[in-house]
Amino acid sequence: MGYPTGKGKAGMGAYPQIGVNTEPLPQRHVPPQAEQPAKTDDDDWKAHIRRPPPDERFRTEDVTNTKGNDFEDYFLKRELLMGIFEMGYEKPSPIQEESLPVALAGKSILARAKNGTGKTGAFVIPILEKCNTTKNVIQGLILVPTRELALQTSSVVKEIGKHMNVQCMVSTGGTSLREDIMRLYNEVHVVVATPGRVLDLANKNVCNLKQCHMIAMDEADKLLCPEFQPIIEDLIKFLPQERQILMYSATFPMTILDFKNRFMAEAHEINLMDELTLKGVSQYYAFVEERQKVHCLNTLFAKLQINQAIIFCNSVTRVELLAKKITELGFSCFFIHSRMYQSHRNRVFHDFRNGACRCLVSSDLFTRGIDIQSVNVVINFDFPKNSETYLHRIGRSGRFGHLGLGINFVTYDDRFNLYRIEKELGTEIQPIPPTIDPATYT
Ligand SMILES: Nc1ncnc2c1ncn2[C@@H]1O[C@H](COP(=O)(O)OP(=O)(O)OP(=O)(O)O)[C@@H](O)[C@H]1O
Ligand SMILES: [Mg+2]
Repeated sequence: MGYPTGKGKAGMGAYPQIGVNTEPLPQRHVPPQAEQPAKTDDDDWKAHIRRPPPDERFRTEDVTNTKGNDFEDYFLKRELLMGIFEMGYEKPSPIQEESLPVALAGKSILARAKNGTGKTGAFVIPILEKCNTTKNVIQGLILVPTRELALQTSSVVKEIGKHMNVQCMVSTGGTSLREDIMRLYNEVHVVVATPGRVLDLANKNVCNLKQCHMIAMDEADKLLCPEFQPIIEDLIKFLPQERQILMYSATFPMTILDFKNRFMAEAHEINLMDELTLKGVSQYYAFVEERQKVHCLNTLFAKLQINQAIIFCNSVTRVELLAKKITELGFSCFFIHSRMYQSHRNRVFHDFRNGACRCLVSSDLFTRGIDIQSVNVVINFDFPKNSETYLHRIGRSGRFGHLGLGINFVTYDDRFNLYRIEKELGTEIQPIPPTIDPATYT
């Protein structure tokens, strides 16, 4: 493509950064720690809510096409409503509107909705509503496929539930089992976990799920892959008979049908996906040879207005190699994959989320669920092998109806995959034009 490299430009901190001609990195909103809003018995409580400043950015129909309901329509506990409003949620998103009445009525749900449209809130809010925090028992179990997603989801539970005295515990592999056991001696109402660790704790009789009537499976199709499904089935045996299962994902391949029929045949089904890809995410491909990829990336860094970008590779080795190459080009970047120490993974996740770096090279560890609002560009340095992975990867940009960009490097060997994925998703991935209007993704 042959554009200037941008190498050596002044950047944030000690290292040059990609896209330095753009606005400063948006910082994550941290609600002020000052005194909590006073709880009064009259309608005045709303006046005390500390709402974050409204997000004035354009949002697509993926999240604005609602029936116009309000969170107050569901008769939620006041403490819960306060948490919801303080998260900056003004009105329920389409998936929240569809889920809340059904979940609150106690029915199991199998729900499919696009990436970044608020599925987490759709299952966290009913779990918190039904949680009686005066009882010292686990009442909700949220299963997710990765440790980073567990951390993210538990912070959503804690934030939404912050006026409810809810005790939420994260339990995942890669951390001390002993600490989890000690934690379970204290009060826990909601557990957010990856399947293996929580099954381990249940088998050891330290995690008591006898009164846990609600289980949410986020990224449910991933949790039902051959690696996880037997663990999930074993785990469900620890729950009471009259349990409610809430399954969410943006993708439900037919492979989940067997589980659905055996464990939740009566579930209410929600499918909000008349089309699969996000309206706000523009998708392009660049036809390249393997050896041109790094050069191409360099060109993109110079040309695009990147707020934050996630660059996906298809293997751990390639993640490390690419991160090294990017650093050699003179740009600062982070990388993350499943073969790193958990403490290191946590630090990278935390720092990237807080805007310490614009660029993260990742394996499929970050493909699902990760919600970083300032990511506006996703680059598939290696083109994914299947349409589910493709959809979830590009869905890391364009969160909550915002605009984003998905760019794919496609080699000769990928050409059939590109064609198949376009067909399966009913979408068109355009050849990358010489310039992309920043208004379409910033
Ligand atoms: N009602 C709402 N109003 C405003 N923002 C919301 C609302 N619900 C969720 N959000 C925000 O939208 C973003 C995306 O939500 P979430 O991570 O739950 O999406 P998702 O549907 O689970 O996506 P994915 O399929 O990628 O996991 C989050 O930053 C969340 O805080
Ligand atoms: Mg999610």
